[in-house]
Formats: sequence, structure tokens, C-alpha cells
Amino acid sequence: MAGRITLTMIKPDAVAKNATGDILRMINEAGFRIAAMKLTKLSKEQAEQFYAVHRERPFYNDLVAFMSSGPIVAAILEKDNAVEDFRKLIGATNPADAAEGSIRRKHAENIERNAVHGSDSDENAAIEAAFHFSQLERF
Ligand code: CMP
Repeated sequence: MAGRITLTMIKPDAVAKNATGDILRMINEAGFRIAAMKLTKLSKEQAEQFYAVHRERPFYNDLVAFMSSGPIVAAILEKDNAVEDFRKLIGATNPADAAEGSIRRKHAENIERNAVHGSDSDENAAIEAAFHFSQLERF
């Protein structure tokens, strides 16, 4: 059975250009409930840990530098079929391929500075939610 939560980060590019409010509006209008949320900033070590699965990829160092370059908004989103539905809402990793009406089509700059993160599986959603939030911070 598909899980009910996914983890999103509104990335430094989107927070810096004041797109946080519009992205949260799009998330709410798509039927997601915000179960946890914080404005925070990843250290280089935290960004390395969060993206450890991409360690061998050529873009890893740039990605870590970008993700630790400024504040982000992390949130746990709740909805039936949350992981898959949220990936539809955000659109393809590369905004050039992202569907009309998707968050990345509207707000992403390029394949790295792509405005939002969304978990890619129920298993990673649970791991990523625990990375950012304790049980006391979830509602
Ligand atoms: P995200 O969904 O957070 O997961 C991994 C991130 O790596 C991705 O969004 C992009 O920000 C980045 N990324 C993925 N592919 C590339 C690429 N080919 N070049 C640069 N950055 C990438």
C-alpha cells in the first residue's frame, strides 16, 4: 500500500527569491496537509548526508554546495499516495522537461537549482522525514 507522507525541501534558490509562499499555496491546493515544517539551513555535512545516495555522481559536490548555501524550508506532507502525487506536482528534475502547471516549471532555474525536493519512495520519505523532524515536531 502506498504511504501517506513525503518529505519536501523548498531549496535555497526558491527561498531566496521569495517563492516559498506560492509553492506552499500550490502544495495546499493540490490537497497535501502540512504535518511538519521549518525554515532551516543545512551544514555542508548535513547536505552530504542527505544526498549520500548521489555521492558518486558528477554533480554531487555542486549539489552539496548549493543545498548548504542558504536557508531552506523542510516539510512533511501528508496525503494518500503522497510520494507519487507530490512528484507529479513538482514535475521533472530538469525544469525544461517539467509539465505545465508543475512547481518546477514555474519556479525552477535549472536541473540543479530546481526549487523543490520530493522523496522518491515511501522508504526514503520515512528516512528523510526523520532526518529533519523529531516525533515532537510532527502534527
Ligand atoms: P532532488 O530531487 O533534490 O534530488 C537530487 C538532486 O540532484 C536533484 O533534485 C537536483 O537538484 C540535482 N541533480 C539531479 N540531476 C542533476 C544533474 N544532472 N546535474 C546537476 N544536478 C542534478
